[in-house]
Amino acid sequence: MTAFRALRIHQTDTGVRRAIETLTLSDLPAGDVLIRVHYSSLNYKDALSANGHTGISRHYPHTPGIDAAGKVVTDVSGTFEAGTEVAVIGFDLGMNTAGGFADYIRVPVGWVTTLPKKLSMADAMRLGTAGVTAAYAFEKLLDNGLKSDQGPVLVTGATGGVGALAVHLLGTLGYDVTAVTGKPDAHDWLRSLGASLVVPREELSTPQKKALLPASYAAAIDTVGDSTLVNVLKSLKFGGTVAACGIVGGTAVPTDIYPFILRGVNLVGIASADAPLAARQRVLGKFSGLWTLPKLTELCDTLRLDQLEARIDAMLAGKIQGRALIDMEAE
Ligand SMILES: NC(=O)c1ccc[n+]([C@@H]2O[C@H](COP(=O)([O-])OP(=O)(O)OC[C@H]3O[C@@H](n4cnc5c(N)ncnc54)[C@H](OP(=O)(O)O)[C@@H]3O)[C@@H](O)[C@H]2O)c1
Repeated sequence: MTAFRALRIHQTDTGVRRAIETLTLSDLPAGDVLIRVHYSSLNYKDALSANGHTGISRHYPHTPGIDAAGKVVTDVSGTFEAGTEVAVIGFDLGMNTAGGFADYIRVPVGWVTTLPKKLSMADAMRLGTAGVTAAYAFEKLLDNGLKSDQGPVLVTGATGGVGALAVHLLGTLGYDVTAVTGKPDAHDWLRSLGASLVVPREELSTPQKKALLPASYAAAIDTVGDSTLVNVLKSLKFGGTVAACGIVGGTAVPTDIYPFILRGVNLVGIASADAPLAARQRVLGKFSGLWTLPKLTELCDTLRLDQLEARIDAMLAGKIQGRALIDMEAE
């Protein structure tokens, strides 16, 4: 029986205990496709799951990892040949299904996407959930009429995974990007990714009494929520759209109606985990062509599985910058 490594999270009386443990294939859930994982990546949801957050993962012990890329070992559905390079991004992977922080996963065939020819397994994971989320948010802005000549697009939580990829995608495509960050030493890095202006987090997070703020931004991608999202709504130009995807600053939306009825702004939600498989294929296809990101590799640290725990703690403390690729084969 094949033995493999997995980062396991146990709930204990005093909190969580994390350990790399040896499992066998019979420990994996039932499913159509057995995949040898070559790469995974770290997302905020993984950090919460690895911290025992029962809103993300109800049952422990558990293996987090909402993203995985690797090669098909077996597929009882007959859809994929052994050796096919595939990715699983989102769905229930790493939530209540044993996830990608392991050498193997077993999942339903409906979660598995093939990779575009020009996208490596590593790049698929450098993008991962953060990349498809930034892409869905950008597409929502386009659906709502955004054009690159309409003025600045704001991105909050800009040094995070979703934020940094959104800054880099928009900047690469010629949009005027304003990045919001809590990290004073990351301004140059954000400019190098494509931001034309970087503003300190407090400028957007401090609650404002005024019903409206100066109409500064054509659109926004918000990963923070709460008073930041409210200030973003108040700062959009007439008819502007904010794609709301994150909650790192809180889950409330303490707003009144004025931005909506005086400026006609749009608040649209992003829910990447359960987006259709075809949506992942569409945006991965774009990332391998039209949206190729020149600094994708630079934007990511590459970690071994045994280096992941420290990165999880740093992420929960809001101290990370960019993405973390987990190379399961790195020595
Ligand atoms: N809706 C969806 O489908 C979807 C998909 C993926 C992720 N998300 C959500 O999007 C958010 C970001 O995810 P991620 O993976 O990019 O996380 P991440 O890499 O940890 O990035 C979060 C960033 O937010 C900023 N931040 C941290 N704590 C903050 C605070 N208390 N107040 C304001 N800003 C703070 C930091 O950037 P700065 O220091 O630069 O400000 C941090 O780098 C999370 O809430 C995640 O759950 C949602």
